[in-house]
Order: sequence, then C-alpha cells, then structure tokens
Amino acid sequence: MSHDDFPTEHPAVVTCGLPYANGDLHIGHLRTYVGGDVYARALERLGQETAFVSGSDMHGTPVAVNAEKEGVSPEAFALDWHERYAETFPKFNVEFDNYGHTHDETNTEITQGLVRDLDEAGHLYEKEIMVAYDPVDDQFLPDRYVEGTCPYCGAHARGDECDEGCQRHLEPGEVEDPVSTITGNPAEYRERTHQFFEVSAFADYLSEFLDRLEGTSNARNQPREWIEQGLQDWCITRDMDWGIDMPGENPQDLVLYVWVDAPIEYISSTRQYTERVGADVFDWEAVWKEGVSDAHPEGGEIVHVIGRDIIQHHTIFWPAMLEATGHAEPRAVMASGFVTLGGKGFSTSRDRAVWADEYLEEGFHPDPLRYYLATNGGFQQDVDFSWEKFRDRVNTELVGTVGNFLYRSLLFAHRNYEDAPVADATSDEVAGRIDEAIADVEAAVNDYSVRALGDAATDLARFGNEYIQHNEPWKLVDDDPDEAAQVIHDCVAIAKAIAVLFEPIAPEKCERLWDQLGEGGSVHEVTVAAASEEPEGDLSEPTELFEKVEDDRVEELNAKLASRVAAAEAGDADDAGGEAADGDADETGDEATDDDTETTDMTDIDPISDDRISFEQFQELDVRVGRIEDAEEIEGADDLLKLRVDLGVETRTIVAGLKGLHAVEDLPGTKVVVLANMEKADLFGVESNGMVLAAGEQADLLTTHEDAEPGTKVL
Ligand code: MSP
Ligand code: ZN
Repeated sequence: MSHDDFPTEHPAVVTCGLPYANGDLHIGHLRTYVGGDVYARALERLGQETAFVSGSDMHGTPVAVNAEKEGVSPEAFALDWHERYAETFPKFNVEFDNYGHTHDETNTEITQGLVRDLDEAGHLYEKEIMVAYDPVDDQFLPDRYVEGTCPYCGAHARGDECDEGCQRHLEPGEVEDPVSTITGNPAEYRERTHQFFEVSAFADYLSEFLDRLEGTSNARNQPREWIEQGLQDWCITRDMDWGIDMPGENPQDLVLYVWVDAPIEYISSTRQYTERVGADVFDWEAVWKEGVSDAHPEGGEIVHVIGRDIIQHHTIFWPAMLEATGHAEPRAVMASGFVTLGGKGFSTSRDRAVWADEYLEEGFHPDPLRYYLATNGGFQQDVDFSWEKFRDRVNTELVGTVGNFLYRSLLFAHRNYEDAPVADATSDEVAGRIDEAIADVEAAVNDYSVRALGDAATDLARFGNEYIQHNEPWKLVDDDPDEAAQVIHDCVAIAKAIAVLFEPIAPEKCERLWDQLGEGGSVHEVTVAAASEEPEGDLSEPTELFEKVEDDRVEELNAKLASRVAAAEAGDADDAGGEAADGDADETGDEATDDDTETTDMTDIDPISDDRISFEQFQELDVRVGRIEDAEEIEGADDLLKLRVDLGVETRTIVAGLKGLHAVEDLPGTKVVVLANMEKADLFGVESNGMVLAAGEQADLLTTHEDAEPGTKVL
C-alpha cells in the first residue's frame, strides 16, 4: 500500500456514506456530501485522477419501517426518495460522477458475488440465534423493528444500534426487554438459523490496517478500542422480504443485512461510472481489486467520507469484507462530527432540523452553506448550527474578506485598465504568496482537512486586502501609472488564484469569478498550477460575488427554528414522561449523544461557585506552561496516557486522562498548562508528577497562544 502524498499515480475513489432513502435530507447529512465533494474536487485540482461516487441506501429497516408507516411498498418508497436525492445533490453543487442505488442490478450482482466469495473462502458459518418476534402480529422484528435496553450501557437502544448511549452496533438478540416499534407489543425471542461472517478472525489484519489508515484520528482511535475489547462475529442475514437475497441455499428466505450491500455500492457505483465513460478514462477494477492491474497491483486510493456514527461499519466490517475477498483496502476514512441544534442531535421524526430544501427555499445560495459546513471547526468536531453563526461567517469572511477583495480590486482594474495584463508579470512578492497558498492547499488535502482548504483561500484574500490597502493603487494611478499597473496586475493574479483554490469549497461562485476574469474554459477543469499562471483574460465589469445575510433575516429564521425546536423539546419531554415512543424508528441515525460530542449543552454547565478564595490562596497553585515531549499508552489503563512534559527547569512524567480523546501521535510538541505542585499520585504503576489542565469531558487541552516558553508561570 503506497501512501505517497497526493497527487499519486493511482486512480482515486472518493465516496460518501449512502443516505437511507427514507426521508428528507437535512444539513447534517450535507456535512458528509459537501465534505466529500470538497475533498474530491480538491484532489482533482491537485491533478489526481478521481471518481466521486455514492448512491442511495435502499434496503434495511430504516427504509422498510418508514414505508410501512406510509402504507407503500418499500421499493416504490425508496425509489421515490432516491430520485429526489439525485436531484437535490446538484443543487448544493455536490456533483457525483455516479450516483446509483443499492437495489439496482449492478449492486445486486456484485453483492451476491462477494458474499459467495466470502462463503467459498470459508469465512461464513451458520449459527442458531435468538431473534425478536412479535407473537401478536406473527412477525419477526429485525433491527429497527425492535427497541429496548442496551446490554452494554443501559441506555434506550434500537435493535441494531445503541444510538442514544454508547453508539455500539448491536447484534440480533442483544437488545434487552425488546418491544416492537410498530405495534408496541412486547417481543419474545425465537430461535432462527442465520449466517455469520467471522470478523473476529481479522482482528490482527484490522489492527495493522488501522496503523496504515489515514483520514481523521477518530476513525482510528475508536476502532482500536473495539478491537482491544474483542471483536464479535457479525450476523449478515435478516428475517425480512426487503433486501438482497442471501445467495445459495436459502431455506428460510433470508435477505442480507443492509450493511452488507450498502458499502458494496461504493464498488458498484464506481463500476457504473466506468461503464459510462470507459475503462481508459476511469478503471474501477484498478481501484477496487488487488492484483488486477499491473500498474496498480495493490489497488487505488480509496477515501471514504462519512459521519462519525458509522465509523465501526467503515473501519471494521467493511475492510474485513474487502480483505477477505481480495479487494483493495481504504487509504483513508474521514469521519465528520455531527451537526447539532442547541447542542442536541437533529431529529427527523421530531422535525428538529434545518432541512436541505428549506435552506434553498429561503433563497440562499448553496456555496455559503458549503463554506460554513466545511470550515466551521475541524472536520471531526460537532458543529452546533445557528443562523447567527452562519450570518457571521458569511458576512465577515465571504463578504468582508473574499468578496470585498475581489470586488474592489477587479472593479478598480476594470475601470482603470479595461483588461488585466498591464504589467508583464506578477511581482515576486505576490507570486511567492500565491505559491504559499498552493502549498497550503496541497498540505490540506494530504492532512484530510477541509477546513484548512477553506483557510488557504480566505487567508490569500486577506493578504490581497492588505496588499491593496498598503499599496493604494488609487493614489498611484496619477503619480506612478506603471507602479499602479503592477499593483493591479498583482491583484488580478491573486483573484485568479482564489478562483482556482477556492473552487472546491465554492464551485459555482468561483466559476463566475473565472468568467469575470475572462479566463477561458472552466475553473472546474484546471489544476492548482493555473493559480500561479499569469492572468490573461479580458476583465468584465465585476459584480459582488457573495451576498450579506441581513439581521432581520436571521431574526425571522430564528423564530421559525425556535418554534420547531420547542415543539421537538415538548416531544422529548413526553417520551421522558414514559409515554410510548412515537416511532423514533424513522430517525436517520443522527442523535448526537455519544461522548465524542464537542458542542456544549449550556444546561449542563455547573453554576459558578460563590465560595471566593484570596489571591494568596490562588498563588499557592504553581501553574506553569509545559510542552509535551512524548506520549504513550499505559498497559491496562483505558483512559490514561503517560506523558513526558518539559517544564523548562525539568521534564516530568505526568499521567493524564487523554486516551481516546486525543491522538497519541499528535500530542508531542503540544504546549499545555500544568499544575506543577499537584501532589504525586501512583496510577497504574506510573508515578504522576503534576496535572495537565483540560476542559470538559472531551479534555480540551489548555494551551498558550503566543510564545510563552516551558516553565513560564501562569497567573
Ligand atoms: N445508510 C447509512 C450509510 C451507509 S454507508 C455504506 C446511513 N445513512 S444516513 O442517511 O443515516 O446518513 C447518511 C450520512 O449522513 C452518513 O454519512 C451519516 O453519518 C451522515 N449524517 C446523518 N446525520 C448527521 C448529522 N446530524 N450530522 C453529521 N452527519 C450526519 O448512515
Ligand atoms: Zn449502549
């Protein structure tokens, strides 16, 4: 497996987690699709051969339960949603090279073939298990047809997933006190024969795979813990009619579990793309199959973009299936944090959401939302959506920084020089700054950071504003026309670079900018090299690229959202009061309640203490700046890491509860704040000599923001 920097010689596939074809899309879903689209476009701008694929997830109980509630067949129901999604994505400039669905012929064929291969390779076995059954309705109750109590953490859970508690995938028969979600009847467990995939046999492979896996650190750290706790084999069949039939002898008429055929759609969708454009343009087998292509014997670069709720499926089950059947393994998994509202997860059934269609119907352009979703916090962080924050980001950064620079410089250039290339070449200073921005974009792609991609372009625009402000070409026009021409030429060069480098985030706006610059062809077709090529087009009269979000709009939108959230809260309160759940089964998997959540629900904050201390008492605390030199795990400790921390005068060993919250390899070099005269403690046989200060359950590390050296006292 080569992990050369992008762009590589290999073809790449970027995929997005398939949306369940079972209801409206909200802007939480869009974090996956915008994230994937931004990343795929950025790879293409780097010159990487890339296919961007996804499709609708048609099967499984999330679809069947909702179809049943509407009284329609799951096939008609899912196809209807599939068609709507296929229309919605382009409206957000999410342009898949192929968007298929899991119920089509390609996916049925590839899925059944792959399951046969698993069987022939001896990785499947039959087992008798207990399955939930509704004796009144005479129906088996797979997955979301049943709910009850999580056997691991005691939270209320769906049949297949502890969605409100520990987020574990639950196997059939595991949920305790099962109740039918459709009828509310208490369920009983009945014995059935099902097919199992021996995932546990792949534990060693998966550990090594995770060491190679790139992407976001949450996609490595969580599965490492699951492997440590011991992997269970995976039941891959269900007692249902809707789905892909289990191939071979199938006396009980079982279908495959939806999570078998869903990721296989990544392969199927790529094959459909090849079938459309030809293998000489894009060869799906060179990416997905090991040993098929001489040029790429180990397959291509596979990058999965998903939300953090489906990490386990993409880093345990899926790579084990690929490995067991001679397929290439993913190079990276980018798992985004959740989008929340008021610190709580979106809820489809409760209408606690900002809907994708709603955003467009309010008259907003898609690119500002793309920018907001891509750049608000790191990709792994949860984002608590609010219209105020949306307004602030749009008005300050898109309108104030990027739009302002482009408009003022292009208007000035147009008025004074008609077309841009009045100077022979871009000045060294500006050409150097543009090269830096290109390097930032390359680094962002290789760091899998969509936020850094956005920053690269906005930082360049910020530089442009300073440059124009500093050089004041409007004064030079009369005094020194040549110098004025140079400054304007430089500004047009910066504008051109922004069009290229910001294209992944704001594709439609950047295409318009490209036209204004009079550049030929499409900015979607160029590579980053174009960012440093001299501008040559005839400028047309510029128009403002981004529109401000007005305060009264925010008020209006807030009022709408507040009443919706209040209604949802009332629904939550009803449930807490012990009423029968009203069908949360149609959730799309988006309750953000696991302990990875990094947003803060204000109601959870402790009141501030009234008990005052004196300054002298405070001075008894010896708080210092430190720098982590080294971090390692401690045998037997689930939450703790052993750190070596440089405190200027000496280097201390300090044990801190950071495991699973911070990537061990990212810690060295991090500046921290340390309570140096904390009493010593013996933790798992390690003497901890001091305490590293961190905020909240996520252990958000306190640090310094300037150049305070290790040992500096904090007062
Ligand atoms: N069908 C499965 C994925 C199968 S992939 C082989 C699924 N579907 S979903 O409709 O529930 O979610 C689609 C995508 O949206 C997933 O990547 C999921 O993680 C993401 N999100 C759904 N709700 C979300 C938020 N509220 N916030 C961020 N991402 C969210 O899961
Ligand atoms: Zn649980």
